Amino acid sequence: MSEPVSDKRRISKQRGILVAVVPQNHLLPRDRVLAEIKGLADTAGVEIVGEMIQQRAAPDVATYLGKGKVEELKQLIEETDAQIVIFDNNLSPSQGKNLENETKRIVVDRSEVILDIFASHAQTQEAKLQVELAQLLYMRPRLKRMWTHLERIVAGGLGSARGPGEKQLELDKRLMDHRITELREKLKEVEKRRERLVHSRKGQATVSLVGYTNAGKSTLMAALTGADVYIADQLFATLDTRTKVWPISHFGDVLLSDTVGFVRDLPHHLVASFKTTLEEARHASLLLHVVDASDPEALMQIQTVHKVLKEIDVQNVPSLLVLNKVDKVTDHSIISALRAQHDNTVTVSARTREGVDQLRQLVIEKLSGGLLHVVVKTEISNGKVYSFLQDHATIEETVYSEPAVTYKISISRRYLGPLMKLGVEINEPHLPIEAPPIDSMAEPIILDQLAG
Ligand code: GTP
Repeated sequence: MSEPVSDKRRISKQRGILVAVVPQNHLLPRDRVLAEIKGLADTAGVEIVGEMIQQRAAPDVATYLGKGKVEELKQLIEETDAQIVIFDNNLSPSQGKNLENETKRIVVDRSEVILDIFASHAQTQEAKLQVELAQLLYMRPRLKRMWTHLERIVAGGLGSARGPGEKQLELDKRLMDHRITELREKLKEVEKRRERLVHSRKGQATVSLVGYTNAGKSTLMAALTGADVYIADQLFATLDTRTKVWPISHFGDVLLSDTVGFVRDLPHHLVASFKTTLEEARHASLLLHVVDASDPEALMQIQTVHKVLKEIDVQNVPSLLVLNKVDKVTDHSIISALRAQHDNTVTVSARTREGVDQLRQLVIEKLSGGLLHVVVKTEISNGKVYSFLQDHATIEETVYSEPAVTYKISISRRYLGPLMKLGVEINEPHLPIEAPPIDSMAEPIILDQLAG
């Protein structure tokens, strides 16, 4: 492979037709069906020249679209002179191949568009490794079709279906496998480094922003920390976790992390490879789940985020649902419905800063309940306690008085239960900082829920 196949299939600046297949009972109005894939294609730099929607009970096994629609698509390609076709759905390798044979155009599915965007937005070495791995895993079962199509383009004609020789394919597959192993090893190293970093912050209050792409996480981060962060009206502008110090008066410094945005049907390989990036979220004391409350799809987006959080094992971290962009909301019944359905919500506008003070108060409340300063006494010979504290707490002071040892520690409330089970004596639990009174607008917080 002289040049990665993925580079030759970059979809930026191509003239593209958008296609979506939706179930027959689909409720979304037509103009909303393609809204998200339009945003994705736009971000990927595609010039959109046509659209097509088909309602079908089930996708066609061979071509996803029905026969008649494939003919319509061919006609639309002729009329618009489109170079690529972009599906809002995920296609199997054979469906992609059959559609390319029929249309004589590159056919890209939802996963490939997202991978393309991620590839162009990856900045750090870690994100680049993660995206390359996800791309290779996506391409491996599709290698033959990708080469076939490229050969046609290189040959200048769209008619030939010769494809690469079996030998060439075998060689490419072996090279790919080798690279996949190499990438996995490199990522393991990065993972260890990140674990050490996250570990070194234990005992410190950490808050992670999570949410659907474009929800306003980076804007909120800037509003809270006053930091200069990159904000673009683009999907997935943030691919790498960024951590900033958020100094909260009456509380202290909090480490605030911005994370990669989520999206419906995120390619499976991408979720897996971005697990490391979301390590910060997994170990956070609190998650701020940011939602674009002005988006009619807000509910679906919340569900998607919950699903991804579950997939990467982050569902047990306490969270606040931050209903953002309230300045843009025209239909306030959506906000009422979301507040009724979810505990611990707060309504803000990261842009106008409306509600940001209230959010700050709620964060203080949650964190004060979450982090405890306690004194732990045990026998020196009890090595289990020391290693548990090393992993889950910050030891502020150690006093030996044979045969006992006393540790002054700060520890997250959720680790207190497991610590008690190790046969220790725990004294003087107190909150580290007096939280200022919550103003009358604030939501009630049930502290017991924090104990997890
Ligand atoms: P990803 O990087 O895709 O995960 O996006 P993000 O969640 O970090 O969103 P970002 O902060 O980049 O904001 C996306 C767009 O929404 C930008 O154009 C922001 O200016 C806009 N935006 C963010 N917050 C608000 C808000 O409170 N009100 C309005 N009207 N627009 C906002």
